[in-house]
Amino acid sequence: MVLLRTQRLILREFEEADWTALHAVESLPEVARYQWFAPRTADESRAYVLGALRGAREQPRVTYDLAIVPPAADRPIGRVGLGVTDAAIGEGMLWYTLHPSVWGMGFATEAGRGLADFGFRELRLHRIWADCDPANVASWRVLEKIGMRREGHLRENARIKGAWADSLIYAILDREWV
Ligand SMILES: CC(C)(COP(=O)(O)OP(=O)(O)OC[C@H]1O[C@@H](n2cnc3c(N)ncnc32)[C@H](O)[C@@H]1OP(=O)(O)O)[C@@H](O)C(=O)NCCC(=O)NCCS
Repeated sequence: MVLLRTQRLILREFEEADWTALHAVESLPEVARYQWFAPRTADESRAYVLGALRGAREQPRVTYDLAIVPPAADRPIGRVGLGVTDAAIGEGMLWYTLHPSVWGMGFATEAGRGLADFGFRELRLHRIWADCDPANVASWRVLEKIGMRREGHLRENARIKGAWADSLIYAILDREWV
């Protein structure tokens, strides 16, 4: 069970009942805009939470998909995740999604930093990376604010909503994490 506290947020394991709060986020077109998935149906949001619960039980655990919860309201406003993409070299991938009502308040940066800190200090990862659509400025700004370095720009390596999309690759190493 992972429970992390940042300055303004709690990052905790999902509970099944969280799916309605997550659905309020994942069903929005502006949330899905730069992601590979379409706005989620209720069934898809519920399946996502159930998948996160399964991931939390796996041994060895490779996926840490956590609910982002403001302490005052025990209701997720989004999610932040870290997946071990290569255990042999200690590499993990970071992702995040928040409800638009809380965009621009630094929450993704705070949550991403909190989970990356867990990745380096507790999981002893060597490298944490992330990718995002170059058009998703808010997302790559978050990665830069976390301290990640832009390592590459892949051209048309993804299909997003039936169109080619580029990807920016960002990463930070354990020795760069302070
Ligand atoms: C990406 C996302 C998580 C960012 O969350 P957030 O809590 O608003 O992020 P933060 O407030 O920590 O930082 C956002 C930064 O981007 C900047 N920003 C946002 N939109 C911008 C735009 N269109 N142009 C330039 N900068 C922009 C903000 O000003 C802020 O930078 P600053 O602190 O230097 O001013 C949020 O927009 C989201 O959930 N989007 C939908 C899901 C998604 O795309 N996830 C990422 C998939 S790769």
